[in-house]
Amino acid sequence: MEFSFNLNDVFKSPIVEITPNLIPPGYAGDRRALWDTVSKVGEIVNQMGAASAAAQGLNKAITTADRIRNSEHKLYFLIDQKANSGKGAVTGMLKTGNKSLYVFDRDGNHYQVQPPCLLDFYVHESKQRNGLGKVLFEHMLQKEGIAPVQMAIDRPSDKLLGFLNKHYSLRDPVKQMNNYVVFDDFFPRRGIPA
Ligand code: ACO
Repeated sequence: MEFSFNLNDVFKSPIVEITPNLIPPGYAGDRRALWDTVSKVGEIVNQMGAASAAAQGLNKAITTADRIRNSEHKLYFLIDQKANSGKGAVTGMLKTGNKSLYVFDRDGNHYQVQPPCLLDFYVHESKQRNGLGKVLFEHMLQKEGIAPVQMAIDRPSDKLLGFLNKHYSLRDPVKQMNNYVVFDDFFPRRGIPA
């Protein structure tokens, strides 16, 4: 996704992590420039959030700048720094956060957990199926120090389920009533002698 401003002035690396204050990592400008930068990041969040919602057939974005500001969520953006005649383009977005959830395993045992969750994930239509989703997802796993099976996934699309199957051999999801999905190894193993 392209913007009228130069993305490389806002984001200085090919993958950036945005926290609720919407200040890009390594920001080094003064206070006046900060307002301009934060408003540009807000525009990026809103436009990528809207595109993700459209790609998932949702009529309302689940990722907006306002919602990020009032959350403890983290956003990762993937940037093609050379695109748009050197002004850069945003090619992917991924949102994580911890949620308090009740989850049930296949035997009906329930657990109250606060796992890291995959809340939104989008690669621009023109770039899907080129491995960019894997690059962004792997970066997130490394930064958060987690394995995919430790995550709960909010309303995964068929494309995302295919992605998790292909790259991480996660299949046969355990669907939850709260619309989250986890996989069998998410649960502690029962019945194994210590
Ligand atoms: N149809 C079916 N499977 C797909 C498709 C598609 N159009 N696109 C990606 N996949 C799955 C497949 O398993 C594919 O492997 P294959 O090409 O060998 O069949 C694999 O993902 C490709 O992996 P990457 O190239 O690393 O993934 P990509 O860059 O396409 O990113 C993503 C994956 C984020 C799911 C992307 O396809 C996308 O944005 N889809 C639309 C939005 C969406 O559904 N997001 C997830 C919503 S649910 C949530 O966010 C919690």
